[in-house]
Amino acid sequence: MTDVDLDNHRAHADVTDELVDDVRSGLTAERKWLPPKWFYDAEGSALFERITALPEYYPTRSEREVLAARAADVARITGAHTLVELGSGSSEKTRLLLDALTGHGTLEEFVPLDVSESALAEATAAISADYPKLEVRGVVGDFTQHLDRLPGGQPRVVAFLGGTIGNFLPAERAAFLRSVREVLEEGEWLLLGTDLVKDVGMLERAYDDSAGVTAAFNRNVLRVINTRLGADFDPDAFEHVAHWDAANEWVEMRLRARLRQTVEIPGAGLTVEFAEGEHIRTEVSAKFRPGGVEAELGAAGFGLERWWTDSQQRFGVSLARSVRG
Ligand code: SAH
Ligand code: AVI
Repeated sequence: MTDVDLDNHRAHADVTDELVDDVRSGLTAERKWLPPKWFYDAEGSALFERITALPEYYPTRSEREVLAARAADVARITGAHTLVELGSGSSEKTRLLLDALTGHGTLEEFVPLDVSESALAEATAAISADYPKLEVRGVVGDFTQHLDRLPGGQPRVVAFLGGTIGNFLPAERAAFLRSVREVLEEGEWLLLGTDLVKDVGMLERAYDDSAGVTAAFNRNVLRVINTRLGADFDPDAFEHVAHWDAANEWVEMRLRARLRQTVEIPGAGLTVEFAEGEHIRTEVSAKFRPGGVEAELGAAGFGLERWWTDSQQRFGVSLARSVRG
């Protein structure tokens, strides 16, 4: 496979500074938390890929079903010249869009953006090899910071798949949608994947699989902090918890201290005390209702053009058009 040059907006030192800031704010808070983007070093990205194949983790399969059925519609409706993908990971499902858009004859550029350099390098190499006529321009970046640096001719479709929009808190989500709208011209497109509210048992099993892969993914954030900041977290001293928060309609992942402990984080100049049973919130994964998605898109300046779900109505995909500047 050919290596593809990546445009890298995440210098090692800057990333470490950002982690220090996040660790200081999150782990000194009254209710401890960490942002989910720190799951995704090379090991975390590989664990996420394993999650997508788990029997309990339906979102990837459900979204793939929708894309397989609707990619041709996306191509016909948008006539996209550029496909931008935010939080692209392996871009595996995205191939359905690439097939449809290249088949339609309009697509010339593919711009995947991800914080995970390893996932992006692998995906861009594989896609460049399989789509030799496509210009593949991988961007190592943060979708909350680097949207203004995205290349690509118009019209563009920005794909944000997998339900990753659910990993924002509601206010962050609104700000993110507005920031996407700001970099688009009127008439350009957003293709958004949203996991839907459903049976609690099915939701909690999806985030607490029997093989323990999600637990390893959750604990990986502690390993990242150990590696980057010389901390001495014992990941096994934390229990993986997946909890459905009915009021907020999100699955919350936590790491719960099995016993009272003190953790040193020299790179952040921090000593953190954990009481037995105290937890760190490591991720929220919000689940949506169709009306809510349309309203949030509308508030950000997008008009919903199509709403599609899989045959079991587990996962929704919206095609929305930017409607005002
Ligand atoms: N879109 C893929 C991957 C989803 S996993 C799918 O549907 O399967 C979430 C992806 O978002 C990971 O690859 C992770 O590295 C990336 N990510 C998480 N936070 C990010 C951020 N702030 N900026 C850019 N990418 C981010
Ligand atoms: C990336 N994101 C949409 C996944 C989710 O389902 O919220 C991350 C994940 N967390 C646990 N399993 C998968």
